[in-house]
Amino acid sequence: MMRIAHPDIAISASAPDRPIDAAFDRRLLSQAVTNIIKNATEAIGAVPEAERGSPAIEVAVRQEEDEVIIDVSDTGKGFPAEGRQRLLEPYMTTREGGTGLGLAIVGKILEDHGGGIELLDNPAGRGGLVRMRIRRAGEPVGIASSLPHADRLRVPA
Ligand SMILES: Nc1ncnc2c1ncn2[C@@H]1O[C@H](COP(=O)(O)OP(=O)(O)OP(=O)(O)O)[C@@H](O)[C@H]1O
Ligand SMILES: [Mg+2]
Repeated sequence: MMRIAHPDIAISASAPDRPIDAAFDRRLLSQAVTNIIKNATEAIGAVPEAERGSPAIEVAVRQEEDEVIIDVSDTGKGFPAEGRQRLLEPYMTTREGGTGLGLAIVGKILEDHGGGIELLDNPAGRGGLVRMRIRRAGEPVGIASSLPHADRLRVPA
């Protein structure tokens, strides 16, 4: 478990002790996770300060058969029950000044890695959980494989 200092939000990350072998584009996957964490901070910011409790973001990485799962959960406002799936479409935003491109781009990056994205409820209570999946084996497909950063890497323990 790694703790990252942040003035307001407790951010933690966990991964199995044994490294996971996986092929992915380091730059694109890092862009995806960064985008999701940015959304999580904004979802926490959307909760009135008096109701925020102890704001937290947790990143949990695990292997499931042929896939690597990256779960990012937050204690923010949570995903709506209605129209949740449409948030993945380009230009769907509820934020003033948002482009609505974040989740669409993340979805594309994961599809290019043979996986996908799911918008879930945080099982720990209030907030959302974004589940990102990539295929573990093989080369990254699509745009990812044509980029110079495409690489065979280990998810750090
Ligand atoms: N962790 C989350 N919890 C609750 N709602 C979320 C979360 N992440 C995204 N959303 C909702 O999904 C919408 C779309 O997100 P997306 O990242 O695509 O665009 P954005 O964040 O609004 O704009 P941009 O990414 O350009 O800053 C957000 O406006 C917000 O309503
Ligand atoms: Mg966003």
